[in-house]
Amino acid sequence: MSLRKTSAAASAPGKIILFGEHFVVYGSHAILASINKRIKVNVCLNKNHTINIISNLGIVGSYKDSEFTLIKGGKKAKQILDLIFKCVSSVLSERNQNLGININLISDIPYGVGLGSSAACCVATVAAVDSLFREPNRQWICVKAVECERLVHKNSSGADCYISVFGGLMYYVKDEGFKKIKSKNDPTLVIVNTRMKHSTGDLVSLVKNFRDQNVLLFIDLTSHADTICEQALASINNGNEKKLGELMNENHALLRHIGVSHRKIDRAVQICVRNGALGAKLTGAGGGGSIIALIPHEKKMRVISEIKKNRFECIPVKFDYNGLITY
Ligand code: MEV
Repeated sequence: MSLRKTSAAASAPGKIILFGEHFVVYGSHAILASINKRIKVNVCLNKNHTINIISNLGIVGSYKDSEFTLIKGGKKAKQILDLIFKCVSSVLSERNQNLGININLISDIPYGVGLGSSAACCVATVAAVDSLFREPNRQWICVKAVECERLVHKNSSGADCYISVFGGLMYYVKDEGFKKIKSKNDPTLVIVNTRMKHSTGDLVSLVKNFRDQNVLLFIDLTSHADTICEQALASINNGNEKKLGELMNENHALLRHIGVSHRKIDRAVQICVRNGALGAKLTGAGGGGSIIALIPHEKKMRVISEIKKNRFECIPVKFDYNGLITY
């Protein structure tokens, strides 16, 4: 395929999982929303047949015929750069091209804390590189981004890439796809970042072990997770925040049961609930990372101040309704 342009850009949002993380990997339901935190990827051709990546995460690296040189960054840098490189090379091989490309990645999604930075990175990189060759096709970009994400975390449900591409509030079932949820009023959620980094792949493996050792129990828990999601959908549609909060607490208890919570996560949930949140739960893979809390307006200042006293980070977010944007 021939080139359409010599430079392109794309931006993709991060996400929160309101209900159903982990169980979604095994075909259960999930409710997700994209958030107004994004990764932007600029790409332009170079003449030296290298893939050069620079990111505002403080990492810089270069690949020549798959030979990697780390120019700047710590222990985790190669892992992040490899993911970006896999996205680039996968699109180039699909288009039968062997080009040199400079990639500049700018992210305002905190990395490794459950807010979908890896998926957004795959989506924006695949979209920007593919835009060099043809008009962006969201469905294709999504499938390709999930494929690349699975090179790192092989059991990915694909949910994070779907929400990043299509945006908004979504009801998702692996292998069945998604339905957009049109809520009357978006629930106003606060994200609390415990600042404990995690690896999604490791936590998904941990849940797989739990499932292998507790087959019947896991079937029960999965069916409970499904019921929570169905009831949560009805509560979002009816604007019943009290019920939604209760369901968040119930979902958090399920996630604790399968072993993906963490002392700091439970502490953050407890602070929120004790100070007036209607409900709170971990969001994403767990094992650290972030929680979301549903807090009535009049209790917000009090909860936020308690959260800060405990040295957690409060991230106010809005839902994003754009999903992937290409330039
Ligand atoms: C990670 O953001 C969500 C998980 O359910 C994994 C996945 O869906 O692929 C833990």
